[in-house]
Amino acid sequence: MTARPILLDCDTGIDDALAILDFTARGGEVLAVGSVHGNVPAPIGARNTLRVLEIAGAEDVPVCVGAARPLAQPLLTAEHVHGQDGLGNTNQPSPRRPVGEGSAAEQIVRLAHARPGEFTLVAIGPLTNLALALLLDPELARLIPEVIIMGGAVGVAGNVSPTAEANIWHDPEAAQLVIEADWKVTLVTLDATMQALLTPTDLEAIQGATGERARFAWAILDHYLTVYQQWLPGRTCPLHDPLALALVLDPDLATYRTLPTQVELRGLATRGATVCDLRTDPASPSPEPGWRMVRYLDQLDVERFRALFVAGITAG
Ligand code: RIB
Ligand code: CA
Repeated sequence: MTARPILLDCDTGIDDALAILDFTARGGEVLAVGSVHGNVPAPIGARNTLRVLEIAGAEDVPVCVGAARPLAQPLLTAEHVHGQDGLGNTNQPSPRRPVGEGSAAEQIVRLAHARPGEFTLVAIGPLTNLALALLLDPELARLIPEVIIMGGAVGVAGNVSPTAEANIWHDPEAAQLVIEADWKVTLVTLDATMQALLTPTDLEAIQGATGERARFAWAILDHYLTVYQQWLPGRTCPLHDPLALALVLDPDLATYRTLPTQVELRGLATRGATVCDLRTDPASPSPEPGWRMVRYLDQLDVERFRALFVAGITAG
C-alpha cells in the first residue's frame, strides 16, 4: 500500500531535521509544512525547515510560520538541547526562498478543504497550530482521516518533567483540544522513541557516507549526541521525530493498542502528562468528558526501524 502524502507540523529542531531527511529520502511525499514554537521560536523553525528541505531536494514544498506561543502559558524553547540556531550551532546559510503567506493553521484548513481525506497530518512539535486550525474550522477533523503525533509518555518518565514529554508539555491545552477532536490520533510516545537509539554502527555508517544528506545529518548530530551524553550512557540519541514519520511509510513497524486518554491540565506536578486509563478494556472507552480513545505503539521493531533510517539518511 502506498503511503498517503503528509502535511507536516514541526519545530525544527535536530530530530525534526533528521525526520524530514529520512522521510523524503525514502519516497515520502510532503505537501506542505507549518512551523510552531517549541525547540526554537516558530520563525527560526521555519527557516531551519526551508534549509533542510533544500538539502532534501524538496524546494517546492511550501513552509508557513505558525504559532509564536502556546495557548495558555508563556513561550519556552529548548536551545539547550538543539543549539542556539536549532540545528546544533552548525551556522547554516540562509535559505534560498522565503516562507509562504498566511499562518500554518490557515494552511492546514486550506489544504484540508482542497484535498479532503487525502493526506495524513503529522505533528512533531507542540500542537498549537493543530488546535488553532480546529478552532478556525469546526469541520476540520472530518476532512483529515489520520493524525500522527510524536508526543506523550505513558509508562516511562517524561523528558521535561517527571511525567510530561516536551511536545505535550509545551502546550497542554492545545494537545487536549487535538486529542478530543473527532479524528483518528496516534501518539508516538517516549515509551517507543526511547527504545529507538542510534548505535555505534549506525553512527559509523552515517559518518562514513558522502552524500549531502548524510553530511548534514552528521554535522547536526554531533551537538545532539553531546547533549544526550548527560542522560544516556555512551554516545547515542533517540530518534523521536524520525520514528513518527517512519510509521507513515511503514505502519507495520509496530503493533498498536488503543487507550482512553486525556492530557493533565491542572496538576501541580503533572501538568502536560498524557494520562491513560489503563484499567479499561480498550474496546469500551471511558464515558467521562475529556477522555478520548488514542492509538499507541505496543511492540516496535526497533532493528528494522533503525536500519531503514540509516538507509534513508545515507542514500544518495
Ligand atoms: O520529546 C521529543 C520531542 O520534543 C521531539 O519532537 C523534539 O524535536 C522536541 O520537540
Ligand atoms: Ca520536534
